[in-house]
Amino acid sequence: MRRPILAANWKMYKTVSEALAFVEAFLPRVRDLEEVEVVLAPPFTALEAVGDALGGSVVKLAAQNVCAESEGAYTGEIAPRMLADVGCSYAIVGHSERRQLYGETDEGVARKAEALFAAGLRPIVCVGETLAEREAGRTFEVIERQLAGSLARVPEARAEELVLAYEPVWAIGTGRTATPEIAQEVHAFVRERLVKRFGEAARRIRIQYGGSVKPDNVYALMALQDVDGALVGGASLDPASFARIVRFERPEENR
Ligand code: PGA
Repeated sequence: MRRPILAANWKMYKTVSEALAFVEAFLPRVRDLEEVEVVLAPPFTALEAVGDALGGSVVKLAAQNVCAESEGAYTGEIAPRMLADVGCSYAIVGHSERRQLYGETDEGVARKAEALFAAGLRPIVCVGETLAEREAGRTFEVIERQLAGSLARVPEARAEELVLAYEPVWAIGTGRTATPEIAQEVHAFVRERLVKRFGEAARRIRIQYGGSVKPDNVYALMALQDVDGALVGGASLDPASFARIVRFERPEENR
């Protein structure tokens, strides 16, 4: 019922030529995939070149951030329609690095998501607790607050186009993946909040897990009932590695 969506978040890695080398090596490995949606989120400078290289392939393009304004005197910012112009279908908003390093708030994320919908794009909205919040037993309270704030401006009629990403901050770039039990517990909670907010349409919203996803742990995560995809940083930078992730095959028993 929910088509899996696996996205590569390249963060601040890869020049245009490095990005194109990735696409050249990656596309032949995923051409036959039909059941899953594959998304690449290069840095802004490589969006157009990667979009062109992807051409009519099955792989879609995403930005890593966006400005909530449609145009104007906002030095250094990129508007949703500029992303649409270079072929983006998605943009990541509210990534924990944006929240922690650049002061992004739930209200700001809500405005970005609204602006993306208005320009015909789909947001990938990230939420997740820090280690301190988890250890203090505040995980659900934090996720609930982030969801309520970040999704406040999602048009009801477009709810199904939304993609959520649960990324526990303590699992990002640390090699410390959430256990399947933790991931499913939070994903089920996110689903329940989405149903409260959007009704039955929420059963069709895809929820990605993010945080040290690797070729060898993606199978167990994707097997979980409420995990509908992955948002992958480090392990998405190498084409062979990300190609294995988007297939999420069962790792060999004896590995
Ligand atoms: P990671 O990053 O896969 O390197 O942990 C995930 C993310 O930040 O989206």
